[in-house]
Amino acid sequence: MRFALKVLWTLVVCIVSIPVSAQEEIIPITTAENAMVLKADQKKNLSILYYGRKLGNNNEYALISQAYKQTSDYTEVADAAYTPSGSRNLLEPAITVTHADGNNSLDLRYVQHEQKDLGNGVNQLSILLKDPVYNFQVTLFYKSYYKQDVVEQWAVIRHTEKSNVTLHKYASANLHIKAKSFWLTQYHGDWAKEMQSETSRLTHGIKTLDSKLGTRANLFQPSVFMVSLDQPATEDEGTVLYGALEYSGNFKTDLELDYQNNLRIISGINNYASAYTLKPNEDFVTPGFLYTLSHNGKGSASRKLQDWARNFKVLDGKKDRLTLLNNWEATYFDFDENKLKELIKDTKKLGVDLFLLDDGWFANKYPRNGDVAGLGDWAPNRKKLPNGIGTLVKEAANNQVKFGIWIEPEMVNPKSELYEQHPDWVVKQPQRAEHYFRNQLVLDLSNPKVQDFVFKVVDDLFSQNGELAYIKWDCNAVIYNAHSAYLKNQSHFYIEYMRGLYNVLKRIRSKYPAVPMMLCSGGGGRVDYGALEYFTEFWPSDNTDPLERIFMQWEYSYFYPAITSANHVTDWGKQPVKFRTDVAMMGKLGFDIVVKHLNEKDLQYCQNAIKQYNSFKDIVWFGKQYRLANPTEGDIASMAYINEEQSKGVIFNYLVNNRYGSGSIYPVRLKGLDAAAKYRITEICLYPGTKTSIDESKTYSGEFLMTIGFNPVVNAQRTSVVLSIEKIR
Ligand code: GLA
Repeated sequence: MRFALKVLWTLVVCIVSIPVSAQEEIIPITTAENAMVLKADQKKNLSILYYGRKLGNNNEYALISQAYKQTSDYTEVADAAYTPSGSRNLLEPAITVTHADGNNSLDLRYVQHEQKDLGNGVNQLSILLKDPVYNFQVTLFYKSYYKQDVVEQWAVIRHTEKSNVTLHKYASANLHIKAKSFWLTQYHGDWAKEMQSETSRLTHGIKTLDSKLGTRANLFQPSVFMVSLDQPATEDEGTVLYGALEYSGNFKTDLELDYQNNLRIISGINNYASAYTLKPNEDFVTPGFLYTLSHNGKGSASRKLQDWARNFKVLDGKKDRLTLLNNWEATYFDFDENKLKELIKDTKKLGVDLFLLDDGWFANKYPRNGDVAGLGDWAPNRKKLPNGIGTLVKEAANNQVKFGIWIEPEMVNPKSELYEQHPDWVVKQPQRAEHYFRNQLVLDLSNPKVQDFVFKVVDDLFSQNGELAYIKWDCNAVIYNAHSAYLKNQSHFYIEYMRGLYNVLKRIRSKYPAVPMMLCSGGGGRVDYGALEYFTEFWPSDNTDPLERIFMQWEYSYFYPAITSANHVTDWGKQPVKFRTDVAMMGKLGFDIVVKHLNEKDLQYCQNAIKQYNSFKDIVWFGKQYRLANPTEGDIASMAYINEEQSKGVIFNYLVNNRYGSGSIYPVRLKGLDAAAKYRITEICLYPGTKTSIDESKTYSGEFLMTIGFNPVVNAQRTSVVLSIEKIR
């Protein structure tokens, strides 16, 4: 039986190619709902015939070209699967080269394709394209995840010409999509204002989303985006594509509405100041471009992506996480061993798993007592910590909590021994004035010696402190004056920097595969799926005002699962501790407060909330996330997490408007329940001394809750309400 099922499954997921005529070939890449259909025509041009809802009969894809009747001379280049430049195509290319002989033209023709079943519903299709004139080739890879409807696409560029070829552009992918109109949702931001969304109709021409910041590349513009087809998608309706480049450096995504009203999306490493000299027989491997397509609105697209991320991308995406107490906002740089020992005791008292020591613990000649000095000198500061880190790790163990530490190993303050000893390790223009971002400069990770240094920072911490259980890896500066004293070819700098960073992260992960690491970048300046292969979680923003966080976490959640979102309770904002804690519980909970400053009831609330959180965190981390009431559209925000079995869930509700009479006037419609089952709703995480305003004695069918809804009774007196929903057996 199992064997038969396996055969059936293989048949279902198999990427088949259908020879339509002797020379023409149709190659569909099918997932649960969708098909990306490629066609190699008689002249061996490889085009994108279709991307959309899949058909029951694969043979019918061949009829698509007729249905569209777009038969201008140009059609056969406008929909190219990977658009070369310098010959017939005059639209935005995916690839531009100068050959060894100085010629600028490229033509790519289909040669062959191969598909592999990688198991677990994952398939990999590779298509070899070659230039008929030059010894130049591109292999396109499509890794498709059947259940999640996700595709990762990348290219490997290679040649055997007599000498080097210059790559001027080298996108990961280009898509070609047909619809009546297209609506782009894009993001912008800055420090403490991450993930601000904007939606607009795409007009003819090219809209570019990009970064040239080098490190912290997502600070002003994240690489994630959505495109709605035909009309703006809502939470539960409409066709919407999500896209993201799996890369932590400069990226560029061009969205070109072409002369036939079709959308071309070309995404890859930003070629800004980065012409790449490719040696014969060298593989240039682009990062993956990730996309998913949903026909049931943004909510379903986000659940697909979250499921994919947990199962296939994020480090230990299906494993446990640690709750923590961080000392950054409790002490800033002002602490010593005794103060930290007290905080470790508070960690235990609060009831979280780990104490996280933040910035300020290192450097001696130029002590790290502020952000102006010491970065790069990773020896514990003898004045603050005369007995080193080890004694703190032991103190944590004595208090039955774990210990974690902050580092920012890619960076250096000009006021540091590292800068004095290795000025050539610093990214700067030799003949120009230095420019600083947060008083610091970036180390040249293209240099293998610098890679060794950064690896050693982490390796030493672990080898000297065996019990170290967590790393917060920060990255607070962008790259000004991009120049490497090590590289001969400066045009390779941005690319080699990222290769260097990933090399270090790979080395760390091969030696320390399971240690949780938070990806921080002065807030959310570096959140992407290239990095999340090495990190268990990210820091969305230094802005922890819970009201702001409701909006920010809402937007992040479209692309990243709750388990990756490190949310800390701090003193930002005017909201009471319950509100702050409840918002932080919609992800991976942490605290960054002075526990001693909490009054008795607030402390009691936090302690109880942590216990409650431990009882439902699995649902938040691994369940399905449903957005019920959008904070940008009304007085309240409401977010639900329901387990796979549809038997348990937790629903967070907040007042986001302080005007008179604001609140949950109407019931909130639930989602993701079993319509036929009966449920009971209770209020949890109540502040000490308060009683619930909801009637917990009633039971409701899933149908009722999804059709009529439930009123969480959110109002000026009850600004944050957490509900537990449970199926009655
Ligand atoms: C960045 C981080 C903060 C904190 C400081 C320390 O700003 O985002 O959380 O770690 O650095 O300097």
